Amino acid sequence: FKVLSVVSEVYPLVKTGGLADVAGALPAALARHGVEMHTLIPGYPAVLGAMVEAEPVYHFDHLFGGPARLLAAKAAGLDLFVIDAPHLFDRPGGPYVDETGADWSDNAERFAALSAVASGIGRGLVPGFVPQVVHAHDWQAGLAPAYLHYSGGWRPGTVMTIHNMAFQGKFPGAIAAHLGFPPEAFSIHGIEYYGTVGYLKAGLKLADRITTVSPSYAGEILLPEGGMGLEGLLNDRADVLSGILNGLDTEAWDPMADEHLPARFDARRLKARAANKAELQRRLGLDEDPGALLFGVVSRLSWQKGLDLLAENIGTLLDMGAQLALLGSGDADLSGRFSGASEAHAGRIAAWFGYDEGMAHLVQAGSDALIVPSRFEPCGLTQLAALRYGALPVVARVGGLADTVIDANEMACSIGVGTGVQFSPVTGPALRQALRRTHALWGKPALWAKLQRNAMATDVSWERAAVEYDRLYRTLAAERGA
Ligand code: ADP
Ligand code: GLC
Repeated sequence: FKVLSVVSEVYPLVKTGGLADVAGALPAALARHGVEMHTLIPGYPAVLGAMVEAEPVYHFDHLFGGPARLLAAKAAGLDLFVIDAPHLFDRPGGPYVDETGADWSDNAERFAALSAVASGIGRGLVPGFVPQVVHAHDWQAGLAPAYLHYSGGWRPGTVMTIHNMAFQGKFPGAIAAHLGFPPEAFSIHGIEYYGTVGYLKAGLKLADRITTVSPSYAGEILLPEGGMGLEGLLNDRADVLSGILNGLDTEAWDPMADEHLPARFDARRLKARAANKAELQRRLGLDEDPGALLFGVVSRLSWQKGLDLLAENIGTLLDMGAQLALLGSGDADLSGRFSGASEAHAGRIAAWFGYDEGMAHLVQAGSDALIVPSRFEPCGLTQLAALRYGALPVVARVGGLADTVIDANEMACSIGVGTGVQFSPVTGPALRQALRRTHALWGKPALWAKLQRNAMATDVSWERAAVEYDRLYRTLAAERGA
């Protein structure tokens, strides 16, 4: 059974967030169910550099402004199709933004190209790999179901997955003429969105199935606040919408085999975490105080992640004698607030700015609790890593955070099932309460250890999701006679 995954980033080759983690982990999880998944990805420098056994399988004289090749290649255990189009993808900077952080001015063409090639593969461009299902991720791949829809003749089934409603890929209506769709596509029934071309909108309108990355988020996006303008469309299509909870790459995140850690551990050897905590404290210049409740954060610094609410609560942390180790990158204003706090409260509050895989692992392994105060969170992966590493997640009760953490309230504790702390609404005062509740739990070492063992026993693997995607693909293919 063949599936083409269409995505703009994939771990470990190129990553800006959880999307890459998901795209990187799905193929192996599905292989165990007899699904052969190949991943179509733009040929950014990092991708071209990582390829092995690259072999040209198709040549385009003209792909959105220049010639291009489609390569079949392997990299990091993944079966890839790579779009080698230097005029679109071979440049320094990030996958979406240039070195100054500004969106590439030709993103409309770059990701239309990704989707157009996906559609081509869907219709048999590569005779050795004709997928029964094309699975598009986020707005960057949103036109893939649309190209397939308007292509005429046989086509595979299409699945559109929403990883984040906040990024919809809207471009001026004038580009519609250059995308190669029939004129009727530029309408409310197709790719048009209030006069613009909406890439995510197109995918949501025209894919056979829509999924998102947690059941709670699947519900939230049907409401105005979560749907961010697309709730009407989604309500019309609610019968084909479902939420499939992400998993975690449990090999990349394995506390017993983690090369980034001074001390490896599992649920029976929790005491070994102390060495990781000490190392984290040393590396970040925190007081080496084993008794202080050490909160960690691993996050993009953006409005979505709600870290301004944590910045408001630095005083709360200090009052309870706790420490903070924050690893983040993004918003300059937020960075400024946390670096200010770390200067004012050296030894208690520490912030490390930048993207650092090894540090992310050390924060998970060394902190006692991980704070995730997101305003919305389609799934979230850091709380899954926290569960696996025995750092109790303290999370806003939204989206995938609500679906993955069991609040250690009185009754949950009475039957021994809590794995973390949830709070709602997503406000500074509610977070303050959650921090205090966490501190109270910390004061009961036997209970805390029990919660850690519960957390570490949680099944955060891809297996459940793989079963669901497998079922979805096969049902869809059977319907389409694919
Ligand atoms: P999102 O995709 O919205 O940023 P997720 O929780 O789904 O949120 O995924 C974030 C991923 O990025 C996780 O793998 C996390 O460990 C990683 N990450 C986030 N910030 C950093 C950072 N500053 N350094 C290293 N890894 C980070
Ligand atoms: C997005 C979401 C995050 C999710 C990730 C992978 O980046 O913000 O919640 O975990 O996609 O699906």
